[in-house]
Amino acid sequence: MTTPTIELKPSAHPLSDAEREAILANPGFGRHFTDHMVTIRWTEGRGWHDAQLVPYAPLSIDPANMTLHYAQSIFEGLKAYRQPDGGVATFRPQANAERFQASARRLAMPELPVETFIAACDALVTQDKAWVPSEGEQSLYLRPFMFATEVGLGVKPANEYLFIVIASPAGAYFPGGVKPVSVWLSEEYVRAAPGGTGAAKCAGNYAASLVAQAEAFEHGCDQVVWLDAIERRWIEEMGGMNLYFVYRAESDRKERIVTPELTGSLLPGITRLSLLQIAEDLGYEVAEDRISVDDWKNGNENGGLTEVFACGTAAVITPVGSVKSTRANWTVADGQPGEVTMKLRRALLDIQTGVTADTHGWMHRL
Ligand code: PLP
Ligand code: COI
Repeated sequence: MTTPTIELKPSAHPLSDAEREAILANPGFGRHFTDHMVTIRWTEGRGWHDAQLVPYAPLSIDPANMTLHYAQSIFEGLKAYRQPDGGVATFRPQANAERFQASARRLAMPELPVETFIAACDALVTQDKAWVPSEGEQSLYLRPFMFATEVGLGVKPANEYLFIVIASPAGAYFPGGVKPVSVWLSEEYVRAAPGGTGAAKCAGNYAASLVAQAEAFEHGCDQVVWLDAIERRWIEEMGGMNLYFVYRAESDRKERIVTPELTGSLLPGITRLSLLQIAEDLGYEVAEDRISVDDWKNGNENGGLTEVFACGTAAVITPVGSVKSTRANWTVADGQPGEVTMKLRRALLDIQTGVTADTHGWMHRL
């Protein structure tokens, strides 16, 4: 597969420095977008073509566009961070590119070459470098996505697709800062079943999650926690984050850190994968295993389980403070951010912002 060269057609009217600075002072999450986007087309028989960097602008969509009806739509999320020398680096773009390919395979869509995915992100970040914030934990969130552009109502894999990368300056995903979130265990609804699309980052997974997220809000919770589809017993993940469980340190060793194993119905998060390594680097015992609701509740009651946190690109690491379900409610330990959670959070952010050495070759300098 050949990688098309990205033709640069920059905007004649980017936002002024003052307008951009005003946005960067309080970016929120996903509310503002940079001056440009990258677009690449795919057509059956022709492959990837017409790669362009163009001004950020609305798209014109035919009402019979197949995505609007049958949801062949996948996306990624990764971040660019300002480095101490003023340069910019993205975190593990290769891993996002590979997951994007896996999502494409599951949705019967064409696979974008890894180098094209990275080149598209690089071109956008290079062009809109002034949009990469330099304050604390802020970053530029990149949203690569792809959807069918064929027009028609036949149910089949489309013969045309559009890949786009847009970028949005990001502050904290949860506006409350590092404040523990409360979670609702979803028993009525499931996110994904064996053989389904749970391991793919496809738009439909998120559409299907919204009613349970709304149920979580109704119960006074911030987020929904998904259980397995068969027994409604095993913890899978959250709406946009994976989960980690921290078990008490024994006399002769440090805490044990466990994340639900990849079952095929939860998203293989890149933050999750990175934390398995970072936790090991920090001397913790790490494992991927099955964790049931009862394990969580009992571990909490007997003090064996000391911290629970969620992790993902947008949310970084966020402590889980309390749990509600139809069966029981409980506070996770003392309900406050745990020491291990905050240590891992700091270690991850320090790598991403270039404060500590990137010993695993995760940072991609532009
Ligand atoms: N699980 C879901 C459902 C997500 O949407 C995300 C976010 O991308 C994650 C987990 C965490 O994945 P990552 O760490 O790659 O951002
Ligand atoms: C991410 O962390 O990149 C996500 O995709 C989570 C959410 C914004 C969908």
